[in-house]
Amino acid sequence: MESALDHHAALAALAWQVELGADEAIGDAPVDRFALPDPSPAPRPAPAVSDFSSKNRPGPELPPIVEDQTVDAAAAARAAAGRAQTLEDLRAAVAAFDLCELKKGAKTTVFADGNPAAPVMILGEAPGREEDIEGRPFVGPAGRLLDRMLAAIGLDRRAETPERAAYISNVMYWRPPGNREPTPGELAMMLPFVERHVQLARPKVLVLMGNTPCAALLGRRGILRLRGTWTEALGRPTLPMTHPAYLLRNPAAKREAWADLLEIQAKLRTLT
Ligand code: URA
Repeated sequence: MESALDHHAALAALAWQVELGADEAIGDAPVDRFALPDPSPAPRPAPAVSDFSSKNRPGPELPPIVEDQTVDAAAAARAAAGRAQTLEDLRAAVAAFDLCELKKGAKTTVFADGNPAAPVMILGEAPGREEDIEGRPFVGPAGRLLDRMLAAIGLDRRAETPERAAYISNVMYWRPPGNREPTPGELAMMLPFVERHVQLARPKVLVLMGNTPCAALLGRRGILRLRGTWTEALGRPTLPMTHPAYLLRNPAAKREAWADLLEIQAKLRTLT
């Protein structure tokens, strides 16, 4: 990564500051009020697909959260994902996968956008209305905010230079009806594709936006507690962040999101 901001990145950073509510400059030199915290706590292993299965949950009193049918579909997904040797193979395998009911109600399969050689891979929840129409993730209002957030740390999904690029996808490739959250069963079914996606893209850092990708890859929810603390998923440094749609509804949370963006920038510098 370049250490000095170029003209466009400086403008983007300024736009982000204005977005945060900054309306005057109070000093000539910047002050970092978010001293970077100590290195992250011990990483937590990502759950295997079968962790979603009722068979692996302790005690018979818990209700089953995944039907056996879903486990079979997850096995079929794992086999199909395992055969994919390239991202294009995987895109085709996802598009050909017919066992997830959400596909039936969706117009398009939304696989990914951006530069797969990027050091950062962002995983959101699922396509919304605009993504379903365009066939690309994060192109609606939340996506436009995401683009501004990335630009503030010098990243751009359209950048051809890998160090300046971002790669964007979701943990579900089809729009759920009425934009509802994908169910645990649907997430478990598609997880093998998501895992293979990360394996083939080989990002240096994963960013999980919101509760749903945290549930799918970390087996945990509670984004307001998880955000901002590095963990590990699929063998990669992983940072949970609040979803840009949440930031649109809760502008005050942009302050923490800015701290998280700086975390990503700092981590990338240590990894280059
Ligand atoms: N929200 C997401 O999580 N993903 C998208 O692609 C769009 C909105």
